[in-house]
Amino acid sequence: MNIADSEVVASILSPYYSITELLSDADLILLNTCSVRDNAEQRIRKRLRELASLKKKNKNLIIGLLGCMAERVKEQLLEQEKTLDFIAGPDAYRSLPKFIEEATLGKLSFNVHLSEIETYDDIEPVRYDGNGVSAFITIMRGCNNFCTYCIVPYTRGRERSRNPKTIIEEAQNLFRKGFREITLLGQNVNSYCWQEKEQTVDFATLTEQIAQISPLLRIRYATSHPKDISDKLLYIMAEYPNVCHYIHLPVQSGSNTMLKKMNRIYTREYYLERIKKIKEILPDCALSTDIIAGFCGETEQDHQDTLSLMKEVGYEYAFMFKYSVREGTKAADKFKDDIPEEIKTKRLEEIIALQQQLSLESNKRDIGKTFPVLIEGVSKRSDRHFFGRNPQNKVCIFLRENHEIGEYVTVKISKCTAGTLLGEMV
Ligand code: 5AD
Ligand code: SF4
Repeated sequence: MNIADSEVVASILSPYYSITELLSDADLILLNTCSVRDNAEQRIRKRLRELASLKKKNKNLIIGLLGCMAERVKEQLLEQEKTLDFIAGPDAYRSLPKFIEEATLGKLSFNVHLSEIETYDDIEPVRYDGNGVSAFITIMRGCNNFCTYCIVPYTRGRERSRNPKTIIEEAQNLFRKGFREITLLGQNVNSYCWQEKEQTVDFATLTEQIAQISPLLRIRYATSHPKDISDKLLYIMAEYPNVCHYIHLPVQSGSNTMLKKMNRIYTREYYLERIKKIKEILPDCALSTDIIAGFCGETEQDHQDTLSLMKEVGYEYAFMFKYSVREGTKAADKFKDDIPEEIKTKRLEEIIALQQQLSLESNKRDIGKTFPVLIEGVSKRSDRHFFGRNPQNKVCIFLRENHEIGEYVTVKISKCTAGTLLGEMV
């Protein structure tokens, strides 16, 4: 999400600035922040201290703070941190040229107002840091779910969907420029809904329309909430081979008590039924998830329920976190963060160890199979090898031959680690 937002910001500022690789060359530095988990504030203050010396050397240097955390910090930060010229929340990026102009006049600016309509739908992001093959397209912003531990609904505001016409145009332009994979992004992509006159475009329909651009354009999406992963979408994924068979479906916990306390709206049984349906309609679909260890009041049995659910699903991959209190959330106000740090750590370690085992088992099952792989680049470890991904989002490494980045090749898997598949082109 933050990369995609930075690309929108780069586009808004492209008439005024070009991007430099070297920090010391910069006339404008923007720190795009995220406050979902770690304590972003401490890190930002440290970074601002580091940047202070650059500001001494270049009196014209302008420094701004963007994103999620901007919404959390108070206006005093501008006063306290002399290095900072402005603070702009996630819905204030169109004002950046004005803020920069004001900064040149020595005026500080602060806007963290959250909009109910801003989707930046007319702005074509500048893909400045990619591989020229894969790109993100933000299709919706905000979240209405209010999971009790989560800060996102407060920092990014309410759900709003972007006009499908502009999304499809953006995807077509990317394809024309040589991009071969797009990831449709949103806090909750499956809630995507655009209504105009009599017509409603939901996420499944949008996916289908993008899939029809070209069979050579791969489509991925993230993130899905289990409450609205529809059968209609699963059937579209089955019908169009270019919609990748990979679903990121955060479960957070395997315990019904915890799920209820987290306000996740579904039960373990409902979640497992959805997984069953996915496997029935898309037997080769890879699954990944997000898990929180040590949420308020989590018992050893709740934790065991998470481990057993992980085994039952057999995830290919997981993003795993220790619960950390976010001020302003319902959990921060109403529940005690009562799981001692060492227990949180122990549970997280058990979750990570289990996932490592599940990932390895899943990769071992792929040995001997062949996959269509989109070449994304030269392997970091060896310039004799390419790396790319199969539809299941697994990284595949194979010897370079007469092929180019952005081409599809067929790779037969011969070896694996928990994180990578190794094979040969066939
Ligand atoms: N503590 C730990 N993890 C969190 N996440 C969101 N808020 C918190 C929190 N307070 C995790 C969830 C979510 C992912 C993006 O970040 O697992 O799915
Ligand atoms: Fe946060 Fe829940 Fe919304 Fe995801 S669905 S962004 S975890 S509130």
